[in-house]
Amino acid sequence: MTKFKGLALKRTTMNITKSLDMQNRAKSRIPGMTQLLSKRPDMFAPGVWPGYFSKAKGVEVWDLDGNRYIDMSISGIGANVLGYADPDVDAAVAEAIKNGTSCSLNCPEEVELADLLCEIHPWAEKVRYARTGGESMAIAVRIARAYTGKDKIAFCGYHGWHDWYLSANLGTENALGEHLISGLNPAGVPKGLTGTAIPFRYNHIEELKAIAEKKKTNPMNPKTPELITCPFLKGTFLGVKWAV
Ligand SMILES: Cc1ncc(COP(=O)(O)O)c(C=O)c1O
Repeated sequence: MTKFKGLALKRTTMNITKSLDMQNRAKSRIPGMTQLLSKRPDMFAPGVWPGYFSKAKGVEVWDLDGNRYIDMSISGIGANVLGYADPDVDAAVAEAIKNGTSCSLNCPEEVELADLLCEIHPWAEKVRYARTGGESMAIAVRIARAYTGKDKIAFCGYHGWHDWYLSANLGTENALGEHLISGLNPAGVPKGLTGTAIPFRYNHIEELKAIAEKKKTNPMNPKTPELITCPFLKGTFLGVKWAV
């Protein structure tokens, strides 16, 4: 099943035996293999997708069998904006490694980065670091619930595997079906979360309005009118100023 192809395959008849063997070995030891849920090897083209790489440089990627690919879109989930193994980035990383990369104390660079992030995103005043997209969203949802005192979340798009998100599929046929990955099974998600995450489709502002009108949720807390003057939210929730 091909969801989408991020790497342009040079030939579909190429030998990828070692890469496939490694995927089979991984599957028996690492359930689902290591990757984003949306981009793990099973989501691409099983039997054709190489899954593992031996080397990556610039826009090129080599699999375990030595086949070369051009990465047309994924680029390490967007992390390698300068291309793989960029010489300047690699030199800075190598320099940092000499001073130890993991420590009980924090590295001062995190403060420098937080300042920079706030500078380039003027709508933000503070920074909280997370390790994954799903974790970032779980943090955002927790903060929203803590601040508003409300449980229900209106959202659109794909946001990972955490309980708050998968709960949208509890008691529904497939509420998340329109949000990138269809058929996500909420097994293990507490039933008590049923009805707390309500999806609306991207660019379907009327669906968000309907959710607010039913008072299932309120996209912005009346206690925080300053939110609507925030350019980021204005851009994202264009048209819901009425809800405040
Ligand atoms: C908007 C958004 N939220 C959450 C996630 C989940 O990220 P992760 O798999 O890193 O937890 C993704 C990943 O594609 C995403 O695009």
